[in-house]
This record gives sequence, structure tokens and C-alpha cells, in this order.
Amino acid sequence: MATILLAGGAGYIGSHTAVELLNAGYDVVAADNFSNSSPESIRRVEEITGKPVKLYEADIRDNAKLAQIFRENSIDAVIHFAGLKAVGESVAKPLKYYRNNIDTTLSLLETMQEAGVRNIIFSSSATVYGEENPVPYLETMQRGVCTNPYGWTKAMMEQIFEDAAKADPMLSVILLRYFNPIGAHPSGRIGEDPLGIPNNLMPYVTQVAVGKREFLTIFGNDYPTKDGTCMRDYIHVVDLAKGHVKAVAYVLGHSGTEVFNLGTGTPYSVNDIVNTFERVNGVKVAHVYGDRRAGDLPEFYANADKAAALLDWKTEKTLEDMCRDAWNWQKQNPDGYRNPD
Ligand code: NAD
Ligand code: WQD
Repeated sequence: MATILLAGGAGYIGSHTAVELLNAGYDVVAADNFSNSSPESIRRVEEITGKPVKLYEADIRDNAKLAQIFRENSIDAVIHFAGLKAVGESVAKPLKYYRNNIDTTLSLLETMQEAGVRNIIFSSSATVYGEENPVPYLETMQRGVCTNPYGWTKAMMEQIFEDAAKADPMLSVILLRYFNPIGAHPSGRIGEDPLGIPNNLMPYVTQVAVGKREFLTIFGNDYPTKDGTCMRDYIHVVDLAKGHVKAVAYVLGHSGTEVFNLGTGTPYSVNDIVNTFERVNGVKVAHVYGDRRAGDLPEFYANADKAAALLDWKTEKTLEDMCRDAWNWQKQNPDGYRNPD
């Protein structure tokens, strides 16, 4: 079976993908600088699967270190998760985001070329559709005008991959545009572990429910949606991880660039999330309605037909599963991977 290098593999989506790849019989090598994660996640991946992961502490911008990893392992494909992802921070510190996100991509492509590794899957984002495209988003739409530097790094990196694949006919690139990943592995052993105040909705909800934060502020209830709150395409992180397993099989037998949306195709509102979370978990999520958050779009969701047709992938988990598994992780790990058992 093939060996897959997960750049940024100790993070939220990387660790869940590691589990699904190992379960599918792939060997996994992970490299991470732990700027937003901990080696504990990979230890737990090994615990869940009963299989080893070769883990490198490495900055993905370090070409010499990457060359060493490619020398020491026979890598068939790379999945590039390594990046900074906090939208608000990217507005305050754009250079940090451009430097980290673009450089990781350039270093990977350069060292892959030197090592003769031809296959790469990239963690892109629905954010590249920008503000103007109508919903549901389709892969054939042009990338749009992004609302923040984080989004622009994703759009720029997509362009870099496309240009690299045009110049090298042997290169096989898959750009996966994730929608809103939430939830956790059903074991409750791995999950999302934000540092500081969560930027995203679900970790904020779970931290309110567990008593770490007083209340959730719902950003706006005057949007033109069914209940006035924003609508998003929330996807269970295990479904998302399984999409990567399908993408690996695809990238290995392909050349050129292919783009896939990974979403469910069904949007839910912020109120839906809060209500479902309270109902399935039997806990209260104290909340107030506040002002709109700058840059938020009223609604976006995927057309997920292309991934179904070409990757043979469809989401299986419900919103109830997402809320239950997110809570199970938070309850078992109130401090995330800090103070591990
Ligand atoms: P995460 O922060 O949990 O994982 C990213 C990992 O990359 C972390 O472990 C971090 O330590 C590592 N990293 C960052 N810079 C690095 C560097 N220079 N060298 C080595 N490691 C580095 O985030 P995630 O939610 O797992 O996201 C993974 C990828 O998916 C990111 O590229 C993110 O932008 C993208 N994405 C995430 C979402 C989401 O909502 N979570 C949505 C769309 C796209
Ligand atoms: C979801 C909804 C908020 C927090 C971001 C990035 C996107 C992608 C996924 C990486 C929105 C509302 C949130 C809170 C709230 N990431 N909300 N109170 O903004 O859809 O997408 O993460 O690529 O690029 O932009 O996700 O989880 O921040 O927000 O009411 O305290 O929850 O307004 O409607 P978003 P989110």
C-alpha cells in the first residue's frame, strides 16, 4: 500500500485523516511544527488505529528538512494541511499568513520535484469562491474576490498549484475546497483544539456548554435567511477525512489539476446548530444575538455532485452526529490536548 506524507498532520483535519488512511491500509508519515497542535494528537491516532505513524517535528518551509523526510521515506503522495487558518488574525497579521501559507506550498512543491514525488492534495477552502458567486458553489465557477488575507492565501496557492501542474505534466494535483468542518472522532480521543478564544462556531458552542465561556454571541439575526442567522454547509470531520482517502486513490492515477468541493450540499443556520446541540446532548448553550461579524456572508453551501461522481464519496453523518461527537470530545478533554491523561 502507498505511503502518504501529511504536512500539518497533527492538526484537527490532519489527525482525523491519518486515522482514516491507516484504517484503509495506507502508511502514514506526519510532519508538523506544532504551531497550532500537539504531538499528543498523533499518539492518539496510533491508539485509535493500533498502527504506527512516523512523526517528524518539522517546519514545512524548511527545504532541507523536507528533503530529509523524502530521503528517509518512500512517499507516494503528500496531503498539504500545513497552514495558519484564523481569519481575524490574518487581517491583523497579513504578512505572517502570506509568509507561512505560501512558503509551505512552495517548499513542498520544490522538494517534491527534487525527490520525484508527483502527487499532492491541497486543503483549500470554500472561501475562494469569494463574495460574488451564487450558491450552491460549483467547481466550474471562477475564484472570487476574497474577504480576507487568509482567503487570498488559499486562492493564491490554488493558482500556484495550477501553474506548477501546467508546467510539469507528471504532476497530479487535487484541490479540495472544504466547507465548514465540525465534530470529532466518535471515540472522543481526537478533536478540534483551538488555542485561546475560539474563532469558529462549534468550538465556541462546546466551550460554553462545558462552562469555559459564559455565553455564545450569535453574529447577526437580521440576515435574509429562514431564521435571520447565517447558513453554512457544516460537514463532519470524519466524512471530510474519508474524502481524503478517496482523493488519495484518485490523485495516484491522475495528472493535471482537479478541484473538488467537500461539503454536504445542505446548509444549516447558527440557530439550527445551537438548537440541535442542546437537543441531542441535553445541555444548554447560553447565547445572545449580537452585531453581524465583518466579512460574513449570509449563506454558502456546496454543490457536492462532482465528488460523488468522480471520487465515489458522499457524506454519511448527520447534524446530530456532528453535535454529539463535538460534545463527546469536549467533555472528555475540557482542556483539549493540554493536561492529557
Ligand atoms: P489546524 O491548525 O488544526 O492544522 C494545521 C496544522 O498545520 C497544525 O497542526 C499546525 O501546527 C501546522 N502548521 C502550520 N504551519 C506550519 C508550518 N509552517 N510547518 C509545519 N506545520 C505547520 O487546522 P485544520 O483545521 O486541521 O486545517 C487544516 C488545513 O485545512 C489548513 O490548511 C486550513 O487552512 C484548511 N481548512 C480548514 C478549514 C477549517 O474550518 N478547519 C476549512 C477550510 C480549509
Ligand atoms: C460559522 C457561522 C458566524 C462564531 C470560516 C472561514 C472559512 C473556513 C471555515 C477555513 C457564521 C457564526 C461564529 C461565533 C457566531 N475556514 N458564529 N458566533 O466564518 O463560515 O468560515 O471557517 O478555510 O474560510 O471563514 O465559520 O465557524 O467562524 O462561523 O454566530 O462566536 O457561525 O457568523 O455564520 P465561517 P465560523
